[in-house]
Amino acid sequence: MKILITAGPTREPIDPVRFISNRSSGKMGLALALTAIERGHEVALIAGPVSVDLSAIPRVITVETADDMLHAVRRELEWCDALVMAAAVADWRPAEVIAEKLKKNNMPRNLQLEPVPDILGTIAPAKGSRIFVGFAAETGNLLEEASRKLVAKKLDLIVANDVARPDSGFESDTNMATLITASAKPGAPVLMTKQELAGRIVQWIESRGP
Ligand code: C5P
Repeated sequence: MKILITAGPTREPIDPVRFISNRSSGKMGLALALTAIERGHEVALIAGPVSVDLSAIPRVITVETADDMLHAVRRELEWCDALVMAAAVADWRPAEVIAEKLKKNNMPRNLQLEPVPDILGTIAPAKGSRIFVGFAAETGNLLEEASRKLVAKKLDLIVANDVARPDSGFESDTNMATLITASAKPGAPVLMTKQELAGRIVQWIESRGP
């Protein structure tokens, strides 16, 4: 199958040297890409500024902002059979980007923010028969929140990930996670390595077929 994967955080500029971002490392997206390649699939990886080595992935498209990621996903969507949105897209960006570096003694006390575009929401009309997989990183009401996002984001599968624990989520090598679909009652989250979780996700995609 042709699998499009997004990874890492996005960076939303404040001025030429400062940005808003999050703690995503890109480990989950990398594990997904490696697993899919190992299992014989064609992979394109759209990566924000990750802190992992992507040199083992033949096709990487690097992006910076949520807007860049949206454009890259839009461009590659037609090519793929399945999209896995593992990226932790920054939720907000400064409403205005300052062209010159802000001086320390001239810093605004408040930053005006606006929401970034919702990538899955924007591309949903072009889904067709493609399989869409999303992630829900939550610190509370994991199964309820993830199930709500499965429906709201019109996903086939959502990976519910408990990021309240130090051994799960951003920067960690393991995730406390469970896979949720519309058709089955969600199982209890299990602690597993990102490689194990990637294997389960890719196998689920294979079971749905192109
Ligand atoms: O609502 P929330 O950000 O928790 O949803 C997470 C899922 O939505 C992830 O799969 C993420 O990659 C995707 N997402 C998106 N566009 C955004 C924010 C998140 O597609 N602006």
